[in-house]
Amino acid sequence: MTSLLKPHALRLSRSTLLPITTALLRTTTPHLPSPLTSPTPSTRRHKSGPYGYTQAKALVFSRFGEPSDVLHLHSHSISPQLPAGAVLLRTLAAPVNPADVNTIQGTYGVRPAFSPLLGTPEPAAVPGNEGCFEVVAVGERVGGGLKRGDWVIPAVGGFGTFRTHVVVEDAERMLFRVGGEKGVEGLNAKQVATVSVNPCSGYRMLKDYVDLVDLSVKSFARGEGATGGAWFLQNGANSGVGRSAIQLGRLWGLRSINVVRERATPEETEALKSELKELGATVVVTEAEFLDRSFSARLKEEWTRGGKEPVMLGLNCVGGKSASAMVKALSPKGCMVTYGGMSRQSFPFPTGPQIFKQLRFEGFWLSEWNKENPTERRNTVNEILDLMREGKFRESPFKEVEWNWDTEEKVLKDAIQGTLEGFRGGKGLFVFGET
Ligand SMILES: NC(=O)c1ccc[n+]([C@@H]2O[C@H](COP(=O)([O-])OP(=O)(O)OC[C@H]3O[C@@H](n4cnc5c(N)ncnc54)[C@H](OP(=O)(O)O)[C@@H]3O)[C@@H](O)[C@H]2O)c1
Repeated sequence: MTSLLKPHALRLSRSTLLPITTALLRTTTPHLPSPLTSPTPSTRRHKSGPYGYTQAKALVFSRFGEPSDVLHLHSHSISPQLPAGAVLLRTLAAPVNPADVNTIQGTYGVRPAFSPLLGTPEPAAVPGNEGCFEVVAVGERVGGGLKRGDWVIPAVGGFGTFRTHVVVEDAERMLFRVGGEKGVEGLNAKQVATVSVNPCSGYRMLKDYVDLVDLSVKSFARGEGATGGAWFLQNGANSGVGRSAIQLGRLWGLRSINVVRERATPEETEALKSELKELGATVVVTEAEFLDRSFSARLKEEWTRGGKEPVMLGLNCVGGKSASAMVKALSPKGCMVTYGGMSRQSFPFPTGPQIFKQLRFEGFWLSEWNKENPTERRNTVNEILDLMREGKFRESPFKEVEWNWDTEEKVLKDAIQGTLEGFRGGKGLFVFGET
């Protein structure tokens, strides 16, 4: 461990602290509680190097490209002198989302600034947008009730979560204390680390474009013979966003038609369909079934009482042919919300449906929505955390990757590189242990 300490350890003055830095922690208690259960702040002693500097590691990149080519694991030290408005955080868990890979590739909607502040040979950025952190030290003038042992999530985009520790200046603005008055009781770090992107996206897209709940209520009130709540349709239904929309839709009394890709065998496809139905999906079809000519007739006859129950909202995660089929399936005056392009194929905006069905095409970008609606964002996160606490909302399957002090760079890079591959057993999730 000592060999990792540089004699000229990077000293971070107040002006050099971007929202980010790091520290290496050790615990005094021989049997640590899992960092993924409730926090136990007072029993921890933080691993420090000589002169009180803390050691930290971060994945960094200095140019855009494939994660396996451009990412490096960088070690650095953090001064024990914490600026008055700053907090020191230890990362507990951080998922790898498709957007993180796009950011590293340089194809995402915003590009991070490369900075010299971590002492990398070239200016660098830390990827990762989402995560759960424990507050391990608090500057003397930090307000907002932030204290040691709290769990926080980033309140801003581009935070850089693939790191063991971070010093965050302007902590009250940059961080969102988890759970408010309720704290983190009943939650684990994996849930907290993954609440703010996929579940919030599903939530906002179901609420903000078509008032499906109102549609359901009015349809029942008019005695139209509806056999359930209003319908929505989505492709990429096995994604984190898709699974979130399925569950929220069910909780709000909505019905969903969900499109998934076929698995290697019919048995595996059926197993996936059953899994999503168990989550709350009303109908699950494969892409092949969705693209087949028979789909329109099935939609009408099997699920929507001869088309009397309209499908007014489509959530498009995939693009390409799947998006074109969604255009066909939506009812007149329906709305298609595009939020992902997993097939990497665009689709035509066909003239006929735009005019004669008067369809509406929208794009959803959570980052922008968050910036414009900071209060509503907190409310959305808190509402979903409450559902998690109550056991009403299940997080997506994860492929956990343990990140300890001695975890090799390749293990971490591989976890990120695989993110855009399909047919995965779960989303990559860094779970931080002995860092
Ligand atoms: N606009 C926004 O604000 C926003 C917010 C959150 C997410 N997103 C986007 O939403 C998408 C899903 O994100 P996520 O985090 O939910 O993903 P995820 O949990 O990692 O799942 C990825 C999904 O994409 C599917 N997929 C992969 N390649 C595909 C292909 N060639 N054709 C069709 N489907 C394919 C996978 O299907 P299989 O299960 O069949 O492999 C899987 O269901 C991404 O594009 C992401 O960037 C956007």
